[in-house]
Amino acid sequence: MKQTVVLKVDSQKPDIEKVRAAASIIRKGGLVAFPTETVYGLGADALNPKAVLALFEAKKRPMDNPPIVHVENINDVYRLAEQVPPNADKLMKAFWPGPLTLVFKRSDTVPDITVAGLDTIAVRMPQHPVALALIRESCRPIAAPSANLAGKPSPTSADHVLDDLNGRIDAILDGGPTRIGVESTVLDLSVDPAMVLRPGGTPLEALRKVLGDVKLHPFVVAEKELPIEKTRSPGMKHKHYAPKAQVILVEGAVSAVMATIKSLISTYWLQDKRVGVLATDETAWAYEADVVKSLGSRRNVDAMAANLFRLLREFDEENVDAIVAESVPTEGLGLAVMNRLRKASGYNIIKAG
Ligand code: TXA
Ligand code: MG
Repeated sequence: MKQTVVLKVDSQKPDIEKVRAAASIIRKGGLVAFPTETVYGLGADALNPKAVLALFEAKKRPMDNPPIVHVENINDVYRLAEQVPPNADKLMKAFWPGPLTLVFKRSDTVPDITVAGLDTIAVRMPQHPVALALIRESCRPIAAPSANLAGKPSPTSADHVLDDLNGRIDAILDGGPTRIGVESTVLDLSVDPAMVLRPGGTPLEALRKVLGDVKLHPFVVAEKELPIEKTRSPGMKHKHYAPKAQVILVEGAVSAVMATIKSLISTYWLQDKRVGVLATDETAWAYEADVVKSLGSRRNVDAMAANLFRLLREFDEENVDAIVAESVPTEGLGLAVMNRLRKASGYNIIKAG
């Protein structure tokens, strides 16, 4: 066990001495968790194979699922990528720094382990003063997957990181809760037209405004498990965002969803099971269950995204046997919320009505 040092920093104006202490850990090959605008990342020197190996081990992450490499200036992209297609320039101008990860053909300067042996690399410039300061002070690109144990919901606060990784990492920069709450959108630019491999903090609608044609990978909207050969992003095939309880996702029109959830609660109660409902502000009042939590208003998908992972973790503490979740609208960040809920359910989806 290591001693994990917690460095509390102001999220907008982080104390430079603390950031430098964290950067020196990164330069020596250590592991530092830090806030981004999406979720907390677990950082290591992307160009140091030993540091990246330690990163996989600390998270218990399968070695075939590469992390995202974080940069703080666009020049670094040209060092990491062998080819930067013209539409990448447009996207970087429009969305960086921000919650958009771009997948490029990779250059030889990147160690194999950092890209899990793939010929592509996923890069993003985060929009968070703490993350940007850490990368700048480290003087190298930082490989950072989400700072959770593999298979757990991504962390949106320093406490979530400590719950999973206390004693397994060197330090954490605690900059308070993250703003967006779901991970970045992963967009593959090594294919034409560009393809979303993971919906996230940058809405599909916004990408289409800039690029015109953008495809969604079939996995993104999958309602059941697809065969593994079809994956383009290695992360797709691993079990993700799984709370301890079984999640059942009920999809359909709101009134039909509510009726179906009520009858599911009765069925679970007859079996003496504890049941939680993941509802919305408009519907939460209507359920009688062991635990009812609201994601937020159905009219505010951004707020629902910000609350999702914290609520999934809270349900873990409630010792429920099942979590029944309402589907939410798929506009904007709603697409990411639905994608995470479908995965969390292991594609245990009921169509209501
Ligand atoms: O918002 C985020 O993206 C957060 C913060 C910390 O930046 N990071 C994050 O990293 O969510 P991670 O490692 O949990 O997810 C990275 C995703 C995985 O689904 C992985 O498979 C995919 O990006 N990925 C990484 N390299 C790739 C590549 N070369 N080609 C396709 N997908 C890749
Ligand atoms: Mg992750």
